[in-house]
Amino acid sequence: MSLQEQLETLEKETLQQIDNATDLDALNQIRVQTLGKKGPITEVLRGMKDLAPEERPKVGSFANQVRDTLTQQIEEKKAVLETEALNQALAAESIDVTLPGKQIPQGTRHILNKIIEEIEDIFVGMGYQIIEGSEVEQDYYNFERMNIPKNHPARDMQDTFYISDELLIRTHTSPVQARTMETHDFSKGPLRMISPGKVFRRDTDDATHSHQFHQIEGLVVDKHITMGDLKGTLEVLMKKMFGENREVRLRPSYFPFTEPSVEADVSCFKCGGKGCNVCKNTGWIEILGSGMVHPDVLEMSGIDSREYTGFAFGLGPDRIAMLRYGVNDIRSFYLNDTRFIDQFKGE
Ligand code: PHE
Repeated sequence: MSLQEQLETLEKETLQQIDNATDLDALNQIRVQTLGKKGPITEVLRGMKDLAPEERPKVGSFANQVRDTLTQQIEEKKAVLETEALNQALAAESIDVTLPGKQIPQGTRHILNKIIEEIEDIFVGMGYQIIEGSEVEQDYYNFERMNIPKNHPARDMQDTFYISDELLIRTHTSPVQARTMETHDFSKGPLRMISPGKVFRRDTDDATHSHQFHQIEGLVVDKHITMGDLKGTLEVLMKKMFGENREVRLRPSYFPFTEPSVEADVSCFKCGGKGCNVCKNTGWIEILGSGMVHPDVLEMSGIDSREYTGFAFGLGPDRIAMLRYGVNDIRSFYLNDTRFIDQFKGE
């Protein structure tokens, strides 16, 4: 291959390499390799001494021309790559102020607490006190003071977690009745209280049973309290909870600590009483147990049952929440799964 041809091939190959170079380092390598002191062009110029004298100027000027072309191409490509690198750096370092900020997860009240607070507000509005009971309770208050003596068959109604023979975790909020009655000073006015809290029963957990659930106990004691007061109070509660058109129906029932005892139903808030899946086609939803405080319960708390009467009720916020929000498994309330609770954020 003549020197001329060698230079032509070199130019072609190098131009291709320059074209392919993707970064400044690669381009610099090409420059050093082809135009440097040990590069092929210097080599060709050095070989000129072997040429015929009339050939030398021709080859020499061609070699210079190739070197100039390559130098210029390298410079141009360098400018392109530098601009690219700058743009990339700018893009990488820039802050997009239009991007949405990082969401800080925000908690929400548990749906059961919301229901309890709603009911508390309703009763506070009617002049009731809110009393806190104790989850660990004496057998004496949980049962005996509620007219359920030791070994009485009525104890079978409430399967119990005993801590010792005399101590248990309460099966209902009713012991708070006895505890408030025995300390209430009637010279300061009637006793009107509700007591919300957790209760425990040795139930097998399923969709409608949980070994832990909630109750709200209600108690009013004064002179001349009648069942009419009970019904009226429950009506106010149910209308506020389930809508103005709700009605309350009382059915005879049995509790050892009330006499007479009733089960209260509310007319179905979904179908209005015509019958649907929520009320199991009866038009009524069973909502709580209640009755007139048993005279013996009053007497055991030091209240004269010939002078004073009262009503009591025990309602279940879990059940109210299930009905109102269409929750079909009570265990969902106790799973600590925020995805469940977050569904009711807007409520
Ligand atoms: N304590 C009863 C229960 O848990 C409910 C109740 C409370 C009934 C007050 C009547 C009066 O089943």
